[in-house]
Amino acid sequence: MKDQTRTPLFSGLLDHIRKHPTQFHIPGHKQGKAVEPSFRDFLGENAFKMDLINIEPLDDLHHPNGIIKEAQDLAAEAFGADYTFFSVQGTSGAIMTMVMSVCNPGDKILVPRNVHKSVTSAIIFSGAVPVFIHPELDPVLGISHGITPRAVRHALEAHPDAKAVLVINPTYFGIAADLESIVEIAHLHDIPVLVDEAHGVHIHFHNDLPLSAMQAGADIAATSVHKLGGSLTQSSVLNLKGERISHERVQTVLSMLTTTSTSYILLASLDTARKQLAISGKSRIDQAIKLANKARKAINELQFIYCTGEEVIGSEAAYHFDPTKLIISIKDLGITGYDAEVWLRNNFNIEVELSDLYNILCIITPGDSTETIEKLLIALGQLEETMRPLSSKKDVQVTIPEIPRLALAPRDAFYAETEVIPFNTAAGRISAESIMVYPPGIPIFIPGEIITNENIEYIWKNVEAGLPVQGLQDETLQTIRVIKEYRAFN
Ligand SMILES: Cc1ncc(COP(=O)(O)O)c(C=O)c1O
Repeated sequence: MKDQTRTPLFSGLLDHIRKHPTQFHIPGHKQGKAVEPSFRDFLGENAFKMDLINIEPLDDLHHPNGIIKEAQDLAAEAFGADYTFFSVQGTSGAIMTMVMSVCNPGDKILVPRNVHKSVTSAIIFSGAVPVFIHPELDPVLGISHGITPRAVRHALEAHPDAKAVLVINPTYFGIAADLESIVEIAHLHDIPVLVDEAHGVHIHFHNDLPLSAMQAGADIAATSVHKLGGSLTQSSVLNLKGERISHERVQTVLSMLTTTSTSYILLASLDTARKQLAISGKSRIDQAIKLANKARKAINELQFIYCTGEEVIGSEAAYHFDPTKLIISIKDLGITGYDAEVWLRNNFNIEVELSDLYNILCIITPGDSTETIEKLLIALGQLEETMRPLSSKKDVQVTIPEIPRLALAPRDAFYAETEVIPFNTAAGRISAESIMVYPPGIPIFIPGEIITNENIEYIWKNVEAGLPVQGLQDETLQTIRVIKEYRAFN
């Protein structure tokens, strides 16, 4: 057992700073001296003193063998991994690394349709061919959950040559699949399981939460420490276990995708967040669960607003859930989740994590307190009072369109000769672009897929509901880039 109270990277930086070296290296602001004063005053001088670069005493994320290696080794033990790699390119960078570490051009990879855009990017970069699995849809909440072991088994029977399975666990909404069974099925085919654990750094540290990727036996997991684990935005880890994926390969690919000017402030925040999670994570998460459950109970005393609880569990895709996520269903109030988000901003200065047609999502963490929960409860009470005249029992229409047919590998489509045509006339053409509703970034189609009228209508419906539809080069959605078609007589 290692001493998890140690922070070799953070402490190493402090030791270095205390020596007051005269710096003739970048960054040129030289401990903040050359920084614009209002910015320097706001952040404080320590931030600039720690804004260092990979000089020899401070190790190098690209070839770690000093304080970064020690910090990564401690993290590996804390996360139950054989190797942990720090990422300063968020979980997006870690996801691209894991996909590109296992997929060569032309390799098939099983992925849920509701993947983050970094998975689509990784598929384009690697030249892999996605085999999409429909996530299970929740008819009460109108959201998609994860994929089921059964769907993975069927997909592997149909595609026995697949090289990997990627799972999102837990989902943005905190719903976890039966990951252990998915891992078992994939390992029977001797292929690795890659986990997008962007929303699950904390689950490893509390027994009442779903199993983490490493606990479930997955081979590799990209985990956002910055989202729910207390490190700074952009800092994530990539955890690796077992023999199916080479750690040298992962290090090489991660390095290919990473800036050579890695931020030591981000790296130190990973080191200290790991210490906090390992030492006091359980009690801090306990407190967050209690606060969230208190909020859930009070919200469910309202007449038209409902907050999801344990009853969501019951299917293979909703096998477990994370109670620190408050999925607050607004649909019976007669407004959209997006309307509620804007109302809370304008009337209570509250910012939620995300909204969709039917829900808002609020995350509760050890950073919350009785006061923040009270404020949310008062605001939701007033929201209900204000909107009560509009209220009506509304049936959820789960409107995720069928997965379009893939006509070309996404990379081939991305690099193909293309033309721009009016968006509303694009049905039947092969898209060269991705388009998604964000958050949470579910692709409606990706490069290589055949556009259908259903896709186009789905997009306009989301636009009308005020949801951000992103991805097309033409942000007005008037035109789209498609694969050029040559006809015999023009
Ligand atoms: C499911 C999922 N995966 C991956 C990511 C990417 O994480 P990051 O923002 O750390 O790059 C996100 C970000 O929101 C996400 O929701």
